[in-house]
Amino acid sequence: MNDLPRLPYYHVDHLIAEGGTARVYWGVDLRSGYPVAIKELKIRHFKNQAIRNNFKDIEAQMYLYMQHPNIPKLVDFIDMPNTHQMYIVMEFIQGRTLEQFIYNEIGLIPEQKALPMFLDILDTMAYIHKKGYLHLDIKTNNVMLKPDGGIKIIDLGIASRMTDASTNTGHGYGTPAYMPAEQSEKRLLGKYTDIFALGVVLFEMLTGRLPFNSDNPNPTQNIAEIRNKIKYEPTPKMKQFYPMIGDGLQAIVEKATAKEPSQRYQTCEEFAHSINDYLKQNNNKR
Ligand SMILES: Nc1ncnc2c1ncn2[C@@H]1O[C@H](COP(=O)(O)OP(=O)(O)O)[C@@H](O)[C@H]1O
Ligand SMILES: [Mg+2]
Repeated sequence: MNDLPRLPYYHVDHLIAEGGTARVYWGVDLRSGYPVAIKELKIRHFKNQAIRNNFKDIEAQMYLYMQHPNIPKLVDFIDMPNTHQMYIVMEFIQGRTLEQFIYNEIGLIPEQKALPMFLDILDTMAYIHKKGYLHLDIKTNNVMLKPDGGIKIIDLGIASRMTDASTNTGHGYGTPAYMPAEQSEKRLLGKYTDIFALGVVLFEMLTGRLPFNSDNPNPTQNIAEIRNKIKYEPTPKMKQFYPMIGDGLQAIVEKATAKEPSQRYQTCEEFAHSINDYLKQNNNKR
């Protein structure tokens, strides 16, 4: 068991989740009484200067400056002088991740429900891009779903500024099943890199499974198999998993997950436009 961190002004109550790089606690801001989520770098990461810098200069800054209802607000940033541990204190989001919703609750999300939710995700991502950042870790585990059906995009841990050439030629971090080849091979990244991950998310919402996956128990081989599929295998037909999915949606997902970055949607607006056209055509048919 880990001891709970002791922080000035915050009562840290319990651990709510543990991701790849961080622990997130539920706490209370003792001054306002509001609940907060407190994100702490894991011990094995918090001495890594590159990760520390990103945590402070990108992730905390983004939570501070992004004024979008679907991105949690920064409440505080704490750098403890004795331990050198750093904490991002942010608005607590009630709900669960989209991943939990799909795999533990619903199985797959029918398109009438999935598409409006996905348009909300695209709108938020368009905002992040407009502010000059790439997210680079879009996945169902980093989208939270609130009880009212709204979404929040979280985890800006490996985000990067588009103008930052050193990170935009790829740091190689990310989650293999959502990473296009240019990201795993440390080539030039762009909005199209997030678009690919968004295409994987849409596939996952509609079918309840990942388009490119491996069940190899060996972690190294597992990643290698996924990367190989992403690079060489076509995006699977969603119909084989859920027969209600039509060709129009298949074409949209295939464009978003095209191997060649130039063949994908180039912006989230263009992606959203395609979905709105699809919705219009299908409503007219009914
Ligand atoms: N603001 C928040 N409110 C509620 N839960 C959160 C919040 N931020 C993160 N979490 C939870 O903590 C988990 C890990 O946070 P995340 O920022 O994704 O860290 P990691 O970089 O380790 O993946 C998330 O999947 C989510 O369940
Ligand atoms: Mg995460």
